[in-house]
Order: sequence, then C-alpha cells, then structure tokens
Amino acid sequence: MLFKFNILKFKILVYLLSKDLSDPIMHCLMRNNTKHLLNWSKHLSRQCTSKAIISEPKEKLLYNDMLQRRQQQATRSIVVQVQSEKSFPELYNYCASFGKILSAHHYRIHQDDDQHYILLEFGSAEEASAAISSSAYNDELSGVPAHSPFLWFRATSSKRTLKAADQTTEAKLAVIGGTTMLDNNDLNDVLCEASNLDQQIFHLHQKTQLNDLGVRLRFLAALQVKQAVSGIFPNANAQPFGSSVNGFGRMGCDLDLILRFDREIVGAAAMQKRNNESRLVFHTKENLTNGRSQTQRQMESLGDMLHLFLPGVCHVRRILQARVPIIKYHHEHLNLEVDLSMSNLTGFYMSELLYMFGEFDERVRPLTFCIRRWAQTCGLTNPSPGRWISNFSLTCLVIFFLQQMKQPILPTINALMKSASPDDIRLTEDGINCSFGRDFERISFRSRNTAKSSELLLQFFEFYSQFDFHNRAISLNEGRSISKPDHSALYIVNPLEQVLNVSKNVSLEECERLRIEVRNAAWVLESEVENPSQPDNGTQSPWGILHLFKTNEKAVIRPHMFFKPRMVEVSDLFDDSTTDTPPTSVDYKNANVKREVESIKSQARGDLKQMRINTSSAAAAAAAEANATIIKTAKGRRGR
Ligand code: GTP
Ligand code: MG
Repeated sequence: MLFKFNILKFKILVYLLSKDLSDPIMHCLMRNNTKHLLNWSKHLSRQCTSKAIISEPKEKLLYNDMLQRRQQQATRSIVVQVQSEKSFPELYNYCASFGKILSAHHYRIHQDDDQHYILLEFGSAEEASAAISSSAYNDELSGVPAHSPFLWFRATSSKRTLKAADQTTEAKLAVIGGTTMLDNNDLNDVLCEASNLDQQIFHLHQKTQLNDLGVRLRFLAALQVKQAVSGIFPNANAQPFGSSVNGFGRMGCDLDLILRFDREIVGAAAMQKRNNESRLVFHTKENLTNGRSQTQRQMESLGDMLHLFLPGVCHVRRILQARVPIIKYHHEHLNLEVDLSMSNLTGFYMSELLYMFGEFDERVRPLTFCIRRWAQTCGLTNPSPGRWISNFSLTCLVIFFLQQMKQPILPTINALMKSASPDDIRLTEDGINCSFGRDFERISFRSRNTAKSSELLLQFFEFYSQFDFHNRAISLNEGRSISKPDHSALYIVNPLEQVLNVSKNVSLEECERLRIEVRNAAWVLESEVENPSQPDNGTQSPWGILHLFKTNEKAVIRPHMFFKPRMVEVSDLFDDSTTDTPPTSVDYKNANVKREVESIKSQARGDLKQMRINTSSAAAAAAAEANATIIKTAKGRRGR
C-alpha cells in the first residue's frame, strides 16, 4: 500500500518535473514536496533508535607523512614481469639473494593475452638497487638500455632451474590479481547481500576504492620520472596528487603527477633558509623566455625524454596550451594513465585538503563514493572533461553539504586557515596562499553529528533539491552559500584561488540536469530509507542504493524534455536575407535557457557582422563555420 502511494507520488513528481521549473505553481509544488520529504526524513530519524555506525576514531596520518612513507616504499620496490603467479617461488628464491623481501603482490594486465607482474618490496632501497643493478640487457632484443625498476624474469636453462623440492619459499603473495576490479555483477551481488543501506554504502566504498597495490604502483610511476631527471636535478621530486593519494580514488583512477625540478614541495622552508645563508651559489641556465612558455618548452623536451627513454611509457601526448600544461601518457607495465604537470601546486595542496576532509570523519569517503557512482550511472559525470560536472566539483558539493549542517560534520576551510602554524605556511610561485592547519590535534575539530551514512545520503539529495543554484555560490571556505559573483550556471568558489570558479565549465543544461537528478534520487531513496533492511524474500533482486544506480529510462527524467528542439539552429545565426527558409521558432520552456540562447545568438550575429566587414568573403565564411561550432558546443550537446 505504502509502495503504491510512493509510486503515485513519484508519478506526480515526474509530471511536475516535465513542466517548466520556472513556473511559480510548479515551484511551489516542488517546495511543498521537498518539505514533505524533509518531514518524512525527520520522522524516520526519530524512529531509528540505533546510533550511527561510527567506529572508534583511528589514528590520523599526516598527509606529508603518508606521502613520505609511500615514496620510501617505492624506492624499496621493483616490478618484475613473470610467466604467471606460479613463477613466484622461483622469483622469490632468486631475489632473496639481494636482500630481505618484505612483501610480494601479483597483478595482471589484460592486453592481447594476460601479462603477469609481481611487485617485490625489499627491506631497503639499497637491496632493491642491488637487484636492479644485477639485471642484464637482452642482446636479442633491441631497445634503449635504460635502468629502471621495471624488469622481467627470464626462463633459464633446466640445469639452473630449482626443482620445487629445492625451493625454500615461506613467503606468500600478499595478493593475486591485485589490480583487477570487481565487475559490476559481482559488486551488485555484494550490495544485494548487505543487510542494510549503511552496509551497502560501506561495501561500495570498500570494494571500489583504490587499494594498497594500486597506490604502490602509482608511487613507482612517480619514482621512475624522478629518477629520470635526477642527473640534472638531484633534488627533483615527482609527487602524486589527486585521487591517487587523497583517499577519494577508485580502482583504475588516473595518476596526477607534479614534477618539480629542484625545489622540494614539502619542507620548502628549510630550502629557503639554505638559499639565504650559503655563500656558494649555483650558476644556472638563463631562462630563454617568459615563465609560461619556458615551462611549455621544458615540458616538450620532457615529453620527448619520457617517450624515447623510459621503459613502459607509451602514447605520450602533450597538452601545453591548457591553463595547466600537462603531458599525458600511458604506462604499459602499470596499466596506468598519467597526467604530468609542472606548475599545478594549488592542485597538489587542494589534494591535501581533500585528504584531510576524508580523514576528519569516516563517513565522508563512503558517502562521496556513493554520490560519485550515482552521478556516473545517471550520466552526470564523464571521464573526459567537458561541460559537465567533474568528480572534483562533485566532491566539493559533498564537502560543502557536510560543512553547512546545523551540526557540521566537517570544518570550514577558513577554520583550517585560522589554525595554521608557521610550519604550515605554503606560498606558490604565483603568490597563492595555500597555508592551512595540517595537524589534526591542533585543529581539534570534533563533530557531534551522529547521523548514519544513509541518512546523510538522503539529506544530501534533499539539500541540493532545494539549493538555489541560480543565485547562490558554494563556498567551502565559509561553509555557507554566498551571492553568485557571475552568471556561471554552477558556482563553486575555488578554495585556494577564491576569485575562480571550480565549476565554470558546467553549462546551464548540465546544471539543470543536476537539479533534476538530485530530485529523482531523493525520491528514489526516500522509499529505500523507509525500508532500511534488505528485503527478506529470498531473491537477489536489487534494492537500496542499487536503485540509485540503475538507469531506468522511465523513471529518470532526461533533459531533452527541457531542451527539445535543439537550442540553436545554425541557420538562426544568419540574416533572413541570406537564407531561403524562415528561422525556426523555438518555444523555450525555461526562461534562463531562453535568455542564454538569445545572448549567444546576438553575440554570434554581432561577431559575424564584424567578420564580414573586416575580412574577405572567403575568410568570413570560414570564421562563421568556426563560430557555428562554438555555438554548437555552447548548446552542451554531448557526443557521449
Ligand atoms: P579523478 O581523476 O576523477 O579520480 O579525481 P581527481 O580528484 O584526481 O580529479 P582531477 O584528476 O580532475 O584533479 C586532480 C586534483 O587536482 C584534484 O584532486 C584536486 O586536488 C585538484 N584540482 C582539480 N581541479 C581543481 C580546481 O579547479 N582548483 C584547484 N585548486 N584544484 C583542483
Ligand atoms: Mg585524477
């Protein structure tokens, strides 16, 4: 009965959403409905007598300590390609002669056939070096003879092969197939079997987060780059940042890497002191051009070097005109996509902030994983960059939601900045202040909010169902919304460069989709929270958060309801005199869309007029074509 009632409410919502959102009656109904959802949620919270599952607070590791531990671990490690995991005893016995093997991890990469690798961690960097130095080049194969921790284990003559009985391996592989992702069906089974919503959210995080081996491999990729430039820059540091290290990474996530030639990223204060005191000063190479083009030229050479000399590095692409120039490449022995930059220090410090937010409260990462997966399955996010919301912006939405609560779960960034000690002072070369307290004890933020993850998930969707995206911007610095500084569809103040908008790329259409999808999700989740336990009907049918992830075409309202027909017809851009057919009259239901389209059109018409005056007819025609393409893009039509 209750279920039928929910379906009825849902149908009403679908109907209402298919109407113009700017309609005042529609608005009022939506508000009432959300208010109802809120009341319901409060009622449920009261009914739930069990306290939130908040485990004992675990020791929080400082970000820099975590990075250093991982970097040291990489210096003790080698990666060896083997026939299969069965080669482990032989490899172990062979390599044990170089030192103590602390751990061994197997993974496979599926190319044409399965390629098997074992990562060995030695007791010290010297022992790993001894193993690398003992390695040979294969004369039968051509190749650049470069030293690196990426090796292969060749078969040997039968005389030298140890018989199984001779092998003294006590060690075990810590993991077999350690980078294999759980496939969707298996994940669904795990989630189906969970006993309540909170367990589902917990399992989703546990089963899809980047694991220990994934992190080890990423730090090895970083070490390879650092070692490649260490002859000229002994203090060079290639440091992973982004989701590979901030605890928000999924299995298979890309590796963001920042390379600094001769400047430490952490401990810059000590370097500064030496620079001020030493009487011996290095001669240096004169900068040939301004800072930005110098970096671009350096990166061009670096790209060549990676491409020509580093084993495993392939498909090197240079994207040097971007705001942050990057080199992208694939690492075939690690099965890893890498984005290497040299000037993205704010991105690096932002990752530190995200890491800290994840450490503050154990509910933050599972909640974010669930929301990211929801966004991915309903097509709000996409692995390639574009006019849709990025995972990073989505994470900011989650953090902001947790900051602005009556009983906040996370502190504001302003509070972190206030608690900075002299050791926390960080300034980028562009003078951007990235100083904030890093010591959890010193910050001493404690949340008294004991809501369960499932409650937070519903509240997240309800919160953004009501959020005034038209007029308000999201500020993680203040932990409250502020007046929107410009007309961007979605405005999230960049925490470290507060004049910038993190989500400037998001189009009006995508923001509208976000609003619709959070409402859908609130609606779907409401009935799930109402029945928080696994349905005990003996079947494995999807339930709980799985309903958020399945794209039911009937249930989910697609934006074409609002954006049909096409927002801008190319022919609309030309004067009536230049075309035989009259311009199509489009009836836009949403006033904001109409305004945006009008402004794009008038700007394009102006540009075209100017071009016609200034250039020859042939050049003008080419420019018009280019403009039409830009406008097409502005429509936010995606080729997904
Ligand atoms: P996935 O790659 O999707 O797994 O997530 P990610 O967190 O690694 O995102 P991405 O690779 O796009 O960016 C890498 C890191 O750069 C993020 O974790 C942020 O720390 C930082 N970053 C990304 N966008 C911005 C931005 O607009 N401003 C600032 N200050 N930092 C950013
Ligand atoms: Mg990334």
